[in-house]
Amino acid sequence: SYTPTPQDKFSFGIWTVGWAAQDVFGSATRAPMPAERAVHKLAELGAYGVNFHDNDVFAFDESDRDERISAFRKALDDTGLVVTTATTNLFSHPIFKDGGFTSNDRDVRRFAIAKVMRNLDLAAELGAKTYVCWGGREGAESGASKDVTAALDRFKEAFDILGGYVLEQGYDLRFAIEPKPNEPRGDILLPTIGHALAFINELEHPEIVGLNPEIGHEEMAGLNYAHGIKQALWHGKLFHIDLNGQHGPRFDQDLRFGAGNVEGAFWTVDAVDSSDYDGPIHFDFKPPRTEDDEGVWESARGCMRNYLILREKVRAFRADPEVVAALSAARVDELSVPTLADGEDWRTLRDMTVDVDALAARGMAFERLDQLALEHLYGVR
Ligand code: GCO
Ligand code: MN
Ligand code: MN
Ligand code: MN
Repeated sequence: SYTPTPQDKFSFGIWTVGWAAQDVFGSATRAPMPAERAVHKLAELGAYGVNFHDNDVFAFDESDRDERISAFRKALDDTGLVVTTATTNLFSHPIFKDGGFTSNDRDVRRFAIAKVMRNLDLAAELGAKTYVCWGGREGAESGASKDVTAALDRFKEAFDILGGYVLEQGYDLRFAIEPKPNEPRGDILLPTIGHALAFINELEHPEIVGLNPEIGHEEMAGLNYAHGIKQALWHGKLFHIDLNGQHGPRFDQDLRFGAGNVEGAFWTVDAVDSSDYDGPIHFDFKPPRTEDDEGVWESARGCMRNYLILREKVRAFRADPEVVAALSAARVDELSVPTLADGEDWRTLRDMTVDVDALAARGMAFERLDQLALEHLYGVR
């Protein structure tokens, strides 16, 4: 078991398994991988869909565009893999050294928006429903170099233009902003789920803009991913997810899902599994630089296997009668009871009296509940 099927809706970025493993200190350790090879191998492993940047498929200068797209499309047709999602590379080429939508250079901003529009056409053609926007180069290394107020104006302008474009073209596509605190820029704009949620409210077409939170990015900022996606869901803004692994605040590790913060992964699967999120279960990871081709596929297989293992564990946790009793002892369900009863208002509360000592003495019984969760995770229940 723990063998994925397309019903599990697992998807991968073409750039994940396709990463040639160049890093800041060293050159690539693996050969470049054409998109169609990634599609074929991922289908063999039991994936359902893929996500791609324009330049995962064809070169930046687009000289090979048609031929590369037809090879990609043929692989999709041959395997039945679905394009769930697409995105734009606005970070690799030197032109984007100060960003795409928020570069100080106006010519670059205009080019960046045009590049996104061209790939929105392809995304719509290939049937993608979500368009991810990760602004990794939108930011700064130093204080005076970026007028953050103006940058936010330009960020909004870009989403307003692109939102208008999608609506006028009649595309069935929604944007998903992917927050990240830093890397490659020293400080990236829209660094967390919270910043991005507030930003969306200022847009002209907020209804077609939501979030694509990534585990590692929230954890780099020391934040709780499961809580973050629950808040995004509460706002109706969880359009997509990037699952991977991270060991706390350090460089972006993009480990396979389930590695790194294991307890965080458990609660992430619990949050997704108990929600009405019905998008792809998408992995955005990087097989470490140490791995050869076999290691790449082992790593991809591990993402899906770990999700299925954790899904079994969270379901067993939720179904365990001792857990049900512990949840009740912890009064978790009481939080769903509105603080005011029908017919009450602030007047009821203003002059009320309570037995403060008795309330203060009442324990919450959370340790018992969490121990049960850990024992499910540790595999002893
Ligand atoms: C990262 C990001 C990127 C983006 C992807 C989509 O690790 O910093 O996850 O991988 O998700 O490139 O643009
Ligand atoms: Mn990442
Ligand atoms: Mn990502
Ligand atoms: Mn990544």
